[in-house]
Amino acid sequence: LSQRRFEVVISNLADVDQVRRSVRALAVELGMAPYASDELALATTELATNLVRHALRGWMSFGAYESVGRAGMEVQALDEGPGISDLAAALSDGYSTTGSLGSGLPAAQRLVDEFEIASTPAGTRVTVRKWLSARL
Ligand SMILES: Nc1ncnc2c1ncn2[C@@H]1O[C@H](COP(=O)(O)OP(=O)(O)OP(=O)(O)O)[C@@H](O)[C@H]1O
Ligand SMILES: [Mg+2]
Repeated sequence: LSQRRFEVVISNLADVDQVRRSVRALAVELGMAPYASDELALATTELATNLVRHALRGWMSFGAYESVGRAGMEVQALDEGPGISDLAAALSDGYSTTGSLGSGLPAAQRLVDEFEIASTPAGTRVTVRKWLSARL
């Protein structure tokens, strides 16, 4: 379980719901606290929803993650959509190009321990990580 990495295609809201549940279930199985697992699941929902809404479709991969004595979970969202022209704006509350709340990306960032985003006109990749608990 701790070696496996899961990959899924996200193209509609049913996929979003499925990946949210899968990420939460794996987090709990890996030993993440329920509240933290909910936070990671919520961040996953926001990234997955953005794939459908802003890039039409995308891919998500997730699995256990280990780095310098810390164990956690990594979730990555990848797409070949139009990209984000102003990353700083997209990461601040209230910025949306679709008349929505514009709180998804900043919320996702707050809900995880590590947040990386890279975007070009050829697509966007967001990687988030959340630790299981304290250092090993
Ligand atoms: N995967 C993506 N591809 C292209 N643009 C994106 C992507 N994700 C986010 N964006 C851009 O960043 C903006 C901010 O994203 P964010 O998720 O914070 O807000 P939102 O999706 O517009 O609204 P919501 O609050 O419902 O999530 C979006 O309006 C969109 O312009
Ligand atoms: Mg969003």
